[in-house]
Amino acid sequence: MIIDKKIQTKGPIVVAITGASGSVYALTLIRWLAGNGYPVDAIASETGKKVFEYETGTKFTVRAITNGKGLLTIHDNDNLFSSLSSGSSKQGKSSKVVIVPCSMGTLGRIAAASGSKLIERVADIALKERRRLVIVPRETPLHSLHLKNMLELSSAGAVILPAMPGFYQKPGSVDDIINFMVSKILDALDISNEMYTRWGN
Ligand SMILES: Cc1cc2nc3c(=O)[nH]c(=O)nc-3n(C[C@H](O)[C@H](O)[C@H](O)COP(=O)(O)O)c2cc1C
Repeated sequence: MIIDKKIQTKGPIVVAITGASGSVYALTLIRWLAGNGYPVDAIASETGKKVFEYETGTKFTVRAITNGKGLLTIHDNDNLFSSLSSGSSKQGKSSKVVIVPCSMGTLGRIAAASGSKLIERVADIALKERRRLVIVPRETPLHSLHLKNMLELSSAGAVILPAMPGFYQKPGSVDDIINFMVSKILDALDISNEMYTRWGN
């Protein structure tokens, strides 16, 4: 049997989108992943979908997001019967999960392990099964409960990766700033990428 190692090593990535600002990070991330051979499972909260469409001007559909390039599946946030919804599911087994952007509401529900939607369930599974969970919160300023929730999640194994672009790479455009953040997310998922010129290059 011939095994295509390239395909074998590219496990699925779950990209969850909530109602915080910064959905362009999610759009850019999904397009990069799908365009580079990673199967993507996307889920949006109700407000996440609305903010995504408002901020990016892109409909939250497979066609509008990928334009036919790559493998993207959109899951309903209300469908707890989804294949992603159990730690025992084969489809979910190799999945890494990123929540981008992550609202303070979703962050709090995951930190309290009290979610009732698919996004919160997928995050809960990632924590209990010790899989990679990258959370990209966006809010400013932060109060002590936001900070406490982030500490709880970090202690439980999540990577807290705030949407805080750096400027040492001297961005020349908004795209440069977006690519910097998306590159940081890919790094946290252990996915090699060259989306911006790294320090020292
Ligand atoms: C345009 C817009 C921008 C928002 N930006 C943020 C934000 O940056 N951070 C945040 O925590 N909430 C933000 N919110 C509020 C969340 O959408 C709201 O708390 C929502 O209930 C989150 O639900 P979800 O976690 O299920 O997506 C924003 C709402 C709107 C309409």
